[in-house]
Amino acid sequence: MKRALCPGTFDPVTSGHLDIIARAAGLFDEVVVAVALSPDKGGGPLFSIEERCTFIEDAVRHLPNVAVRPFDTLLVDFAQKMDAHVIIKGLRAVTDFEREFQMAQLNYRLDETIETMFIMSIPEFAYLSSSAVKEIARHGGDVSGLVPDAVREALAARLQGSR
Ligand code: PNS
Repeated sequence: MKRALCPGTFDPVTSGHLDIIARAAGLFDEVVVAVALSPDKGGGPLFSIEERCTFIEDAVRHLPNVAVRPFDTLLVDFAQKMDAHVIIKGLRAVTDFEREFQMAQLNYRLDETIETMFIMSIPEFAYLSSSAVKEIARHGGDVSGLVPDAVREALAARLQGSR
């Protein structure tokens, strides 16, 4: 039984993330979406860990082999805990490569039994990121199709006061 982890901060989950998760679910017996608490990332996440997990759970309900779990440890330790020996990351443009390369190397240094594998983003989502979505939403732009509808509504509600 091959179980893979799809880790990230997912603040919030985008259609690009969901595409990678669905494609990983087609390749592995089980996929665990590992949602990092990431309290320090970019001044702190906009959405709580519970909200971020719920957005993903609702969006992957049609994928029976996908589970969503929060974590606040080293990724390799969480992978061991989940008995997953593959980490799946999405790669968008070349700009992702350096950071992903660094994380993959560090994770390998920490635990050689865990492989990092990359799935290339489809062109439609190659320039999509959680931070771009938040910026568009913050300025009142339309993020339909870039995130699930529930996330679009939550962004509008959360960012209303900041405009
Ligand atoms: O959404 P992101 O920012 O690409 O996700 C990054 C994440 C959460 C995968 C990464 O920050 C992570 O693995 N955090 C857990 C702490 C850890 O293991 N750090 C060492 C690896 S660089």
